[in-house]
Amino acid sequence: MRFLITAGPTREPIDPVRYISNRSSGKMGYAIAEAALEAGHDVILISGPASLAPPRKAKFISVSTSDEMFDAVHRHADKSEVCVLCAAVADYKPAQVSPVKIKKGNAEFSLELMPTRDILQSLGLQERHKFLLVGFAAETDHIEENAAKKLREKNCDIIVANDARIGMETDENKLLILFRDGEMNKISHAPKQNLARELVEIFSKFATKKFDKENVMITERT
Ligand code: C5P
Repeated sequence: MRFLITAGPTREPIDPVRYISNRSSGKMGYAIAEAALEAGHDVILISGPASLAPPRKAKFISVSTSDEMFDAVHRHADKSEVCVLCAAVADYKPAQVSPVKIKKGNAEFSLELMPTRDILQSLGLQERHKFLLVGFAAETDHIEENAAKKLREKNCDIIVANDARIGMETDENKLLILFRDGEMNKISHAPKQNLARELVEIFSKFATKKFDKENVMITERT
């Protein structure tokens, strides 16, 4: 199968030397890419700025802003069977980017922000998409409720939720996996490499199930 995976943070420029970003390290997404390759899948890894070496056998696309990530994902999603959107995309970007460095002053200064495009939702709302769509949810409270809301609103097949206070920038994580049909699965505290292997197994199993079901429907219609 072909996996498309997004990872890392995005950077939203304010001026030529400043940007808005977040603390995502990219470790979870890169670990999923490694695990998918290890299981014999093809991988396209679309990553924001991260200080990790990309897996050698992956097709690696390096991006910086949420708009660049949006475009790269849309160029490759339809060629993939599984899309795993793991990146911590910035939720807002400056409404205007200054072409020159903004000078320091003594007065208060505020920046107008506008929402970025939601890449996961844009894929979920695409009619007739064939790939299995997996989103991530890093939450600090009401993890299950917030993840279930995301699953519905972004129309994903699977949402992998984690506690942002444990998962960010660390080597370990603890996951709650919610499926479209209401099923739920928990994976307890483990290194991200082990979690990634389990996730890849779950994703390929569900992708196969989804494609088998679609093939049966097509056969029944003809
Ligand atoms: O809404 P929230 O940002 O918490 O959702 C997280 C999920 O949505 C992750 O899978 C993330 O990669 C994806 N996302 C996205 N584009 C955005 C914001 C989030 O693809 N602009």
